[in-house]
Order: sequence, then C-alpha cells, then structure tokens
Amino acid sequence: MAGTGVFADVLEGDVYKYYADGEWKKSSSGKSVAIINPMTRKTQYKVQACTQEEVNKVMESAKTAQKSWAKTPLWKRAELLHKAAAILKEHKAPIAECLVKEIAKPAKDAVTEVVRSGDLVSYTAEEGVRILGEGKFLVSDSFPGNQRTKYCLTSKIPLGVILAIPPFNYPVNLAVSKIAPALIAGNSLVLKPPTQGAVSALHMVHCFHLAGFPKGLISCVTGKGSEIGDFLTMHPGVNCISFTGGDTGIAISKKAGMIPLQMELGGKDACIVLEDADLDLVAANIIKGGFSYSGQRCTAVKVVLVMESVADLLVEKVKAKVAKLTVGAPEDDCDITPVVSESSANFIEGLVKDAKEKGATFCQEYKRDGNLIWPLLLDNVRPDMRIAWEEPFGPVLPVIRINSAEEGIHHCNASNFGLQGCVFTKDVNKAILISDAMETGTVQINSAPARGPDHFPFQGLKDSGIGSQGVTNSINMMTKIKTTVINLPTPSYTMG
Ligand code: G3H
Repeated sequence: MAGTGVFADVLEGDVYKYYADGEWKKSSSGKSVAIINPMTRKTQYKVQACTQEEVNKVMESAKTAQKSWAKTPLWKRAELLHKAAAILKEHKAPIAECLVKEIAKPAKDAVTEVVRSGDLVSYTAEEGVRILGEGKFLVSDSFPGNQRTKYCLTSKIPLGVILAIPPFNYPVNLAVSKIAPALIAGNSLVLKPPTQGAVSALHMVHCFHLAGFPKGLISCVTGKGSEIGDFLTMHPGVNCISFTGGDTGIAISKKAGMIPLQMELGGKDACIVLEDADLDLVAANIIKGGFSYSGQRCTAVKVVLVMESVADLLVEKVKAKVAKLTVGAPEDDCDITPVVSESSANFIEGLVKDAKEKGATFCQEYKRDGNLIWPLLLDNVRPDMRIAWEEPFGPVLPVIRINSAEEGIHHCNASNFGLQGCVFTKDVNKAILISDAMETGTVQINSAPARGPDHFPFQGLKDSGIGSQGVTNSINMMTKIKTTVINLPTPSYTMG
C-alpha cells in the first residue's frame, strides 16, 4: 500500500516528504499542497510545499554529487539503474495505486505505466553502456590543406545538473524517461513532479533511493509552481531542462538561460482516413488512440479527417465502439475515467458548447458528472469550431469530413502543433507521400499515434516541442561532445 512497508519513510503524518541529500525531509515552510482525487474530488494526498531556500540546497548537493558521479565507471552506473528498474517493477502495485488515486488512471494502465518505466530504465542502462562507451577518431588530412598531423578524439561528457519536469499524465514514466538518461550519462537530476502525480513520483524516486544511488545525485522537490516553478527553471545551477507538459514550456523556453532544452508540449494529432482504408482497423485505432486514458495523452488522436465517401460508414463503426466503452472509476478499470481536474473538465465543456453552438453533429448525448465526461464523438466539425484546433485533453473527438488527401494534409499543417499524425490507407505509396507532406515529428501508417516503444525517437515540430526524445536521443541530448586533439610534429600515415 502507498506510504507503508518499504515506502514508510516517504510519509510522515498525512504529508508526503520531499527527497534531498539522500533523505526524506519535511519542508521548513510547514505548508503542504493538497492533491485532489479526480474521482472523489476530495483531498487524497498532501505533499510538502518546498521553499526557494530548499531548492538552493538541492541544487548545491546536485552539483557536488554530479562531480563524483561523473567519475563513477559506466558499468557501475548501469548496474545501479538495473537495480532501480527491478525495485520499481517489484513495487508496481503501490505505485499504481497512487496513479489510480491522484490522476485517475485506470488500474490496469497504471500497472502498465510502472512496468514500462522499469523496462525503460533497464533499456537506458544497456543503451548507455553501448553509446557512451564509444567515441570518434578523426584525422586531419581529410580536410583540404591539411596533412595528417592531427588526431582528434571525441567523447560524450555529462552536462551537469538536469532539471526534469514531467506531466501529470505519466508522472512515473515521463519522469524516468528523463532520470535514467541523465544518470547513465553522468549527470545529477532534480525532479519537480506535477502536483497531480507527485505521490506516484515520490514512490518511484524511493525505488532509486533503495537501489543505493549516491546522496544528492537525485532529488525531488514538491510544491507550488508559483513559489518554486520559475525559481527552478531559471536557477543558475541548472544545466539542462527536460520538460513535458503544456504551453508552460513555451514560457520556460523564453526564460531559461543558455542551456539545452528538451521539450514536448502536446499535439493535435490528426488521423487522415482515405477511401481504401480498412475501416474496422481505423475504428479500432480511433477508439484506442482517441479515448485511452480518456484522451489525456499528448499523442491521442485529436482530430479525424475522413474522406466524405467513407465518413458515414466510419462514424457508424466508431459510434458502435464508443457505446461499448465503460465509464466510471479508475479502480474498476473503466475505459473512461474522470479527467484530472475540474478546470480541465470545464475547459472541455467549453469546447463542446462552442461546437454545439456552431452546429456540430453530436453522435452521443453530452454528459458530465463532476470531472467525469462521457465519451463524445462530434461529426461534421468545421474549421470555425474551436475543437477543430484546440487540444481537449479529454474524451471528446471531432470528425472533419474532407474531399481530398490534400485537404487533410492542409488541416494538419495549419495547426500550431506538429507532434504526430497518422494515415490509414492500403496504398503504401500514397501513405509515404502523405507522411512526407505532414508537418509532424512522426507519422504512423495504419496505426494510431503513440510515443512507444520508448526507444523510438519522439519529437514534435512547431509548438509541439524542442529536440527529440526516446532513449538514445535523450542520452545524447544530456551530453556534450568533448574533443582532445593530438598534434604531431610531422605527418604520420598508417601503412597497410
Ligand atoms: O502524453 C504524452 C505522452 O508522451 C504520450 O505517450 O503515446 O505512450 O501515451 P503515449
């Protein structure tokens, strides 16, 4: 159970502690932040409201710890990560319980998130050993005007202190996708979890603590964004920020100093359906892509662009599947669970009302109870409706009927977002042409958008992000190239 057994140290009274210098601590603020259960809309957990002074201390320890960590052999770093991964998986049940209670993730998906995270940590350890154990060797005579008098050796060195800010929808998985690459590459890591999801993240961090990482190498500070948000992202001790979330990322990118940024800020993933598509496959993917975790995924299908000639049939198939989705508590493993907060639910409702006023066809009756919104398919959506462009981050999916693939590509590319997209057709040549024309970081052919498997590159264009993620890219992003050049007094050529 959360906060008990091996996790007992994380909790004192009814407030979870923060993690600094290898210890679980109470904040000197004496204040806490409440985490509201999206289902009951009552306080489920409380976490420490850390102060700026505490952030300063964490940054100092992170800097010191990183210096000796960078001198720790790569195989040893990997060994500790493998240990953390095993502990994480061993304790999947209490961590999943937190995910259910604080972000209303369906029980089965919550367990999957933890297991996936353990696998990601192990894979990162293995990949790190391979790619960080290699460098380059260059010789000077390949560049015009040079003799072979210079040997250049390149290696990848850590950046220093990485600040990781994951989102509420994957507080464990999108935290470890930043923590593991940072650590394997020889960096230290400061984690600022989202408030909804903080307790799951604290339990995950405890698994790293139990694995025996050095003091100060990993820290986790909780608290109000208004108190420590900007203070963290503008802190001079931070050498790199890896952020996943909403448009706060745009503000961070404007305020952060001259440091590398890795950002994923959401999407409006389009699903283009051509006449020759397998409509049963499309319908299944629209349900999975549009409604899993109640649409609260940056890679969710967020607009269907279907050819008019097959639209009626597709809408009927999707409607039939929507009718079978279960709606209710995450503990009961329902397909549709409450969205994360009342303000999210209100925002979604605003989009639905706008679509209603402007004449969208409601395939189901709009229904809401608290944060719980029943799945809704909106047909005949037009570009003047907000839902055509904005991310609901909820179980509401617009369908726009198109008369050509070009029209679909045009709608997709007119979005500020450019995360992923998908195209359904049996004609692979058409699929490739459409994929090339779509201004998104990834295009899935005949499947819904998704970040995983976690070693695949994952990136967004335009407002969807900066840089690329996925295990290998994240390790590389959290390193810098260092070169050493050996200058010879006379040219030297290796003989055959
Ligand atoms: O919400 C953003 C995540 O990166 C999406 O991940 O495709 O595995 O659900 P997912």
